[in-house]
Amino acid sequence: MVTSLTRMDAQTLENDALVAVAAATSLDEVERVRVEYLGRKSALKLALREVRDRETGMTLNALRERLEAAVDAREEELRRVELDRRLTEDVVDVTLPGEERPLGTLHPTTLTRRIVEDAFLGLGYEVIDDREVETVHYNFDQLSFPPAHPSRSHRDTFFLDSERLLRTETSPSQIHVMEAKKPPIYMVSLGRVYRRDEVTATRFPIFHQFEGLAVDRHITLADLKGTLLHVMRALFGDERRVRFRTHFFPFTEPSIEPDVSCPICDMQGCRMCKYTGWIELGGAGMVDPQVFLNVGIDPEEWTGFAFGCGIERAAQLRHGISEIRPFWENDLRVLRQF
Ligand code: PHE
Repeated sequence: MVTSLTRMDAQTLENDALVAVAAATSLDEVERVRVEYLGRKSALKLALREVRDRETGMTLNALRERLEAAVDAREEELRRVELDRRLTEDVVDVTLPGEERPLGTLHPTTLTRRIVEDAFLGLGYEVIDDREVETVHYNFDQLSFPPAHPSRSHRDTFFLDSERLLRTETSPSQIHVMEAKKPPIYMVSLGRVYRRDEVTATRFPIFHQFEGLAVDRHITLADLKGTLLHVMRALFGDERRVRFRTHFFPFTEPSIEPDVSCPICDMQGCRMCKYTGWIELGGAGMVDPQVFLNVGIDPEEWTGFAFGCGIERAAQLRHGISEIRPFWENDLRVLRQF
């Protein structure tokens, strides 16, 4: 074991150490050099411990400081080399194409719903999303359905209990809006409705409707026709025409069924329009004075019109889909086409 260092030894030690430092090519090697020459059991540290005179102490301490500085400098140098290497080797090419995420498409029901919403927003209507669980009061009574109307039966309608049911149409929205605010009213309510129907090609127990209501002074059937024409053209193109056939609904008087000129064959006659050139699209009419009285609106001062239309049916016509079932089957092979 070395217990003291002569001046000569110190010079040799410094030379050896500096050579070892310079030869170190990795951080691990630098660390090994540090332990060997500056560690607790190194010749230098042992010699320092045994120093008795001031001059030797100063000499050895100066040597220690030089060696420490050399080791630190080499370590720093190797770190920089390592960083440079990583920066040049591990390059990220930001121009490479990223990982592709599969993008969904909007459901045709949603697409159609948005067209209707946009068309009515353009007319200054308020767009409403109403409740699907209704009461007999709002779904039937306030809309002046006669007590024996078949829709009131449990065979036609999904009842939750004797008072509550799944709405059979969006028309109860008319009542809610007219109870909530004073005319003038221009609103369209879109959403799901429920009927106890068997699933067939054209019927499904859940479907969507859009329901419009306008209440103002001097509103006439001509306003209704113009409004429906606007929506039908937004849905099926500028060439469409609209005609009315008389009908009956408990909450409108007169009531009509609007037809739109067939967008499939452009009135030439096809299977979709049963070779008539016209396609039936929902129900409409002037708000019955009795409905106004039910909600406390004076029918002498105000008139209005209302209409309702199936959204899937409109989507079917827009996209030439002959059945309603695909709208509810979530088959991506079908839905991806829109
Ligand atoms: N609610 C009626 C239906 O579902 C349609 C309708 C709405 C008729 C508004 C007149 C006025 O058949």
